[in-house]
Amino acid sequence: MNEWTGVILAAGQGTRMKSNLPKTLHTVCGKPLIGHVADVMRAAGAHRVVAVVSPAIAEMPELKAAIGDDVAIAIQTEALGTADALESARQAVGNATTLVVAAGDMALLRHESISDLVSTHEQSGSLLSVLTATVDDPQGFGRIVRDESGAIEAIVEEVDTDADQKLICEMNTGLYCLQVPWSWDELENLAISSVGEKFLTDLVAVAASSGKASTTSVQDVSEAIGVNNRIQLAEVEQAMRDRIRRGHMLAGVTIRDPQTTYIDADVEIGRDTELLPGNHIRSGTRIGADCIIGPNSILKDCVIGEGATIISSHVEGAEVGAGNSVGPFSRIRKCTYIESGAYVGNFAEIKNSRIGSGTHVGHFSYVGDTELGEDVNIGAGTVTANFDGVNKHRTVIGDRAKIGSDTVIVAPVNIGADASTGAGSVVNRDVAAGETVVGVPAKLIAQRSGSKHRTEAD
Ligand code: UD1
Ligand code: CA
Repeated sequence: MNEWTGVILAAGQGTRMKSNLPKTLHTVCGKPLIGHVADVMRAAGAHRVVAVVSPAIAEMPELKAAIGDDVAIAIQTEALGTADALESARQAVGNATTLVVAAGDMALLRHESISDLVSTHEQSGSLLSVLTATVDDPQGFGRIVRDESGAIEAIVEEVDTDADQKLICEMNTGLYCLQVPWSWDELENLAISSVGEKFLTDLVAVAASSGKASTTSVQDVSEAIGVNNRIQLAEVEQAMRDRIRRGHMLAGVTIRDPQTTYIDADVEIGRDTELLPGNHIRSGTRIGADCIIGPNSILKDCVIGEGATIISSHVEGAEVGAGNSVGPFSRIRKCTYIESGAYVGNFAEIKNSRIGSGTHVGHFSYVGDTELGEDVNIGAGTVTANFDGVNKHRTVIGDRAKIGSDTVIVAPVNIGADASTGAGSVVNRDVAAGETVVGVPAKLIAQRSGSKHRTEAD
């Protein structure tokens, strides 16, 4: 296959979405529509990709995040139709000779369909080739009109169809392969359509008139769903979710109840991991092999080590070490690192903290901005009071310390290794290694033999 350049048309107004957000930035399975199209272009082997967008979207940081830095941006100043959109990419495209043009709302397009189209285009020596689909309800889509021999003659847009053409079930998916510079010359000559826009689809009749238009068809009709409104957005999301789940299952992940399992597009899951019903596994998550997730866990932007169990818990922006168990009903928040061998039980909230190996946070606790050493025991009801109303402060607890039930640690506080706090203590000063403190505020009652005695006035 020769080198080809991908062009994504995404400068339309997306009026039918009735949204303040540009259509192609609406997400499906955690990723904007245009991001899915950029991915499939790369997967099919595009030499370069250009996205045509409106001046307003070009300014939005979400755009770059969605398409990646390797995709060039071209601007269509006014939404004057799909033909005008392609013309707007001319400079950015440079001197490529083959273009693959896709609408920015074709999130379900498969890379195999692009490759098929490009090879048919090249083998047939066509000027223009179109990917089509035969569907039950083609309403709203451009219809494929063929002559008696079955060759494509034209694409007729819904607004221009006559009664017979309305019955045609073969539709234009919005994916084209084009020869340039032929296309640039002919685009200039296209007439303005009945709705005042220049239709890229009108180029088909021009190529067909010299016998140089061809078609291929999708393998999977869901590929043909372009997102124009929120109903189609939901249809695409459902079809994509199904595709994602099947991909994981075929790669060795057990999904007990696919219908209640939601997995975003860029999630990684290791072999023999079992997903119980009701999980939401959102973008940026990497789960190791042999884990048990759920029921009813929510994971986002996190790393779950091999063999870990996450029961009915919420983990976001955190890392849970191999073999660990979290939950039920705990919330692990951003910048938390739970080392392998630690244990987090029920009703714990942990934020911006490191939990050492062998450490237990077994029962309802808040641990925030805290460094917990190894083999620490955090008693039920322990709270790190990390916020003084203005600033956040850190708590540091050394190895083997025992924090009694219902201890409140008023940060900043350092609790040394092997220290203990009594049940119900309010600790507002540092506790040295080996010391035991109790009360409100906590006072020293014992110390490790050999260390200097401290008085209450200390
Ligand atoms: C288009 C096709 C139709 C096809 C359908 C498949 C045309 C005229 N019609 O119709 O044959 O069946 O897709 O889903 O092409 N865009 C621009 N600038 C514009 C107008 C549109 O960049 O001025 C972009 C849009 O952002 C969108 C894509 O082109 O990503 C297609 O436009 P859209 O309005 O969705 O076209 P459809 O009416 O769906
Ligand atoms: Ca569309």
